[in-house]
Amino acid sequence: MPSHLKLKIRLNLCTAIFFSAWLSACGNQPAPTKPVQPTIPRPAPAQFAQQKNCLACHNATGNMVGPSWQAVSAKYKSDPNATSTLTQKVLNGGQGSFGPAQMPAQANNLTPDEATYLVEWVLKGGQ
Ligand code: HEC
Repeated sequence: MPSHLKLKIRLNLCTAIFFSAWLSACGNQPAPTKPVQPTIPRPAPAQFAQQKNCLACHNATGNMVGPSWQAVSAKYKSDPNATSTLTQKVLNGGQGSFGPAQMPAQANNLTPDEATYLVEWVLKGGQ
């Protein structure tokens, strides 16, 4: 075999080893998640909810895809853990509190502090 061909085969082998090592290294690592950057300065809650697209599915008084802010605040009126429960629900999404419709997870859209900021406002009926 001419020597330049041997060299070529060896190079291809190296490339294959390199790529399989690289791929398996990637396979062992969790996919990099982009941390959510806090929105600074943070606008008033109504404007912030608009910016964060909550109002596509919610409004203050009427049920749309999601429950109205008033309905949420009425439901949790006497729940002392409402703020933390709902912060988790907003970040992780879910269904079943108001019906089968799914609230999409907001962890890529809000920091935990921002979720709490909106939840405190929602619990006042969005006023
Ligand atoms: C694509 C539609 C959609 C968007 C966008 C959306 N929601 Fe919801 N949301 C829902 C639905 C549907 C429910 C009812 C879920 C259930 O029944 O458990 C809900 C429920 C909620 C609840 C009550 C949860 C419970 O368990 O009682 C809160 C609080 C809430 N949403 C806040 C927000 C905030 C804040 C945003 C914006 C960051 C937002 N939502 C964006 C659809 C949406």
